[in-house]
Amino acid sequence: MVVKVFHGAVVHSISLGELEIVENGTLVVDAAGVIVAFERSGNQELSIPEDPQVHHLEPGEFLIPGFVDTHNHAPQWPMRGLGQGLHILEWLNQVTFPIEARFADATYARRTYENTVSDFLRQGITTASYYGSRHAEATCILAEICLEKGQRAFVGKCNMDRNAPEYICEQSADVSLRETQDCVAHIRKLPGCAEPKHALVKPVLTPRFAICCTSKLLCGLGNMMKKDKDLAMQTHFNEAQQEIDATRGLFPVLAAKSEADLYESFGLLCPRSVLAHCTIMTDYDMERVKALQCGVAHCPIANMTVGGGFMVAPVRDFLRRGIKVGLGTDSGGGWASQMLAVIRQAMIASNAREVMSQGEDKGLSLEEVFYLATLGGAQVMCLDDSIGNFQVGKQFDASWISTTTGLQSAMTPREEGDSFRTIFEKYIMSGDDRNIAHVYVRGRRVAGSHQELREVEGC
Ligand code: GUN
Ligand code: FE
Repeated sequence: MVVKVFHGAVVHSISLGELEIVENGTLVVDAAGVIVAFERSGNQELSIPEDPQVHHLEPGEFLIPGFVDTHNHAPQWPMRGLGQGLHILEWLNQVTFPIEARFADATYARRTYENTVSDFLRQGITTASYYGSRHAEATCILAEICLEKGQRAFVGKCNMDRNAPEYICEQSADVSLRETQDCVAHIRKLPGCAEPKHALVKPVLTPRFAICCTSKLLCGLGNMMKKDKDLAMQTHFNEAQQEIDATRGLFPVLAAKSEADLYESFGLLCPRSVLAHCTIMTDYDMERVKALQCGVAHCPIANMTVGGGFMVAPVRDFLRRGIKVGLGTDSGGGWASQMLAVIRQAMIASNAREVMSQGEDKGLSLEEVFYLATLGGAQVMCLDDSIGNFQVGKQFDASWISTTTGLQSAMTPREEGDSFRTIFEKYIMSGDDRNIAHVYVRGRRVAGSHQELREVEGC
């Protein structure tokens, strides 16, 4: 790869409430995809290595950090939108398991995952934390496809050795653990993935949820996590009342007070744990999640469709307590692979929460939801020292947004006199993938609606 220089507008989050808009910036990305300079005034001399590829963004175009999807079921991409309104356990049995069972077929898995990963990249999702199905072969294929297409990803073989129909249930905890170990080893043998700190694609332990896992399986996964300080873990946590009741029925002592106690007792909760949904949370649940430094994958579309009603996670309370929060598309549990749709739904859900809390939990601002989709998600995945915004030294994971006139998209048109904040707001609230001209991961162009990159010779 060559050095790239981008002249133009840049928008990114500095912190939860602080959005930085640089209208006339220069970003320099080295051949390894690392941001080596970010000049904000446009008139300072920069030392740029020889023979760079130079790109000038037009008025109305800007760079944003790539979106981080902290919760995504890859095998549910072909079933987005199905079974809306069903309660979680019925939805799993009637809709989800039959579709996930198709991934026993490696040919089907390859074809479907090619489309899945391409679609998420096209939506500007540069990092995804994927649940695979319970099939090891298909999950290894998913990891290979992420790497081939250049998406930063966590990929996990789903563990489920009970309370699932025979056609999809794993034979035993031992088989599940052995296949998980094989999958982890396979991913770490992929080119460039051996060294966890530098790997683009990493393994993640993925117990579906306690209802589908025996104590033996949870214990084995906890041991893997304790031994291997580079392994992350993801699971579903306090998603719906039906799920919480069933979990208590299976673990009457361990889960008596909180699912946090249950997962913690198996050694599964630490700063590398990503807990999806977290909709029904007591003070105690939140205290434990905070104390153990786990991250929350907030999935506002799935929470308000599948799972048992209109669930509104207490995101403002999480943020007040300093709990890490990112956003998740969830794929099948929702109806969208677009992070923009999730961002909008996060705002709507937070407005509902404001009403439900008699004004105590204020709705989330545009700045805050954008932060959750980028830097917040990077924190949840423990990647905030390398991605999430355009700080010098981080890797260049980004989308080049185009709002230029004549572009066919759903976006509210840009008008004369619009401030940059207004243009950004129009894109976030009404734009779509047609506005995402180019997508970069680690400085490499991996997707985008524009065929050609505009390049200007020299500086
Ligand atoms: N709980 C266990 N499995 C699932 C799943 O696939 N989706 C959601 N939303 N919740 C779950
Ligand atoms: Fe989920």
